Amino acid sequence: MPPLSLSERALVDGPTALRPWQDADLPAIVAACQDPEIARWTRVPADYNERHARAFLLEREEALRSGTTVSYAIAAARDLDRLLGSASILRIDERHRRGEIGYWLAREARGQGHATRAVRLISAWGFETLGLERLELQIGVGNGASQRVAERAGFTREALRRSYMLSARGRLDMITFGLLPIDWRPIAGSGG
Ligand SMILES: CC(C)(COP(=O)(O)OP(=O)(O)OC[C@H]1O[C@@H](n2cnc3c(N)ncnc32)[C@H](O)[C@@H]1OP(=O)(O)O)[C@@H](O)C(=O)NCCC(=O)NCCS
Repeated sequence: MPPLSLSERALVDGPTALRPWQDADLPAIVAACQDPEIARWTRVPADYNERHARAFLLEREEALRSGTTVSYAIAAARDLDRLLGSASILRIDERHRRGEIGYWLAREARGQGHATRAVRLISAWGFETLGLERLELQIGVGNGASQRVAERAGFTREALRRSYMLSARGRLDMITFGLLPIDWRPIAGSGG
């Protein structure tokens, strides 16, 4: 697949920005990923340490080159050095023009709409810049916070996939949410 590149300018919606990862994010990544809720619901490993964060930053470059994953840091729009979380499009399938979005927020950044705005921003960018025609979210059945993000961001609940993912706590049943360009509409409080 052709190499991908990130937007050079930060993508911004109100207080939320997406920008490329930087080496200086390393301590904030390690601190955020100590939260067991992240390992519980994502593929981020439990017992997260600096080695994991270094590998994560290196893999992002590698994945861009191979054209399969694009990953942005979620940052504060007023202070782009302040890391709030992560938003990625994974498993990009060029032939079928689809990809899967994954995200997490540092615990202290939750409850303010950053994840919803980040999902809107990366979805718009995926449709407009990568030319994708379908975006998916795979969310654990018990992960109510993330399901609310999906719904607020305009995704449609489509299917239940039993025993779909192996997380730090064992196998998870997942709900697939989907978003197509025709579903796109302005959302209150979002510039996207
Ligand atoms: C999933 C996760 C990112 C959701 O974080 P979040 O803070 O609930 O999501 P948002 O940033 O969109 O904030 C939404 C909350 O802020 C509130 N909020 C405040 N201002 C808001 C605004 N302008 N717009 C939207 N929501 C706003 C909402 O009411 C909502 O709270 P509620 O769920 O109690 O109703 C977070 O729980 C997390 O990182 N979990 C661990 C990793 C994970 O599960 N990742 C997803 C795997 S599928």
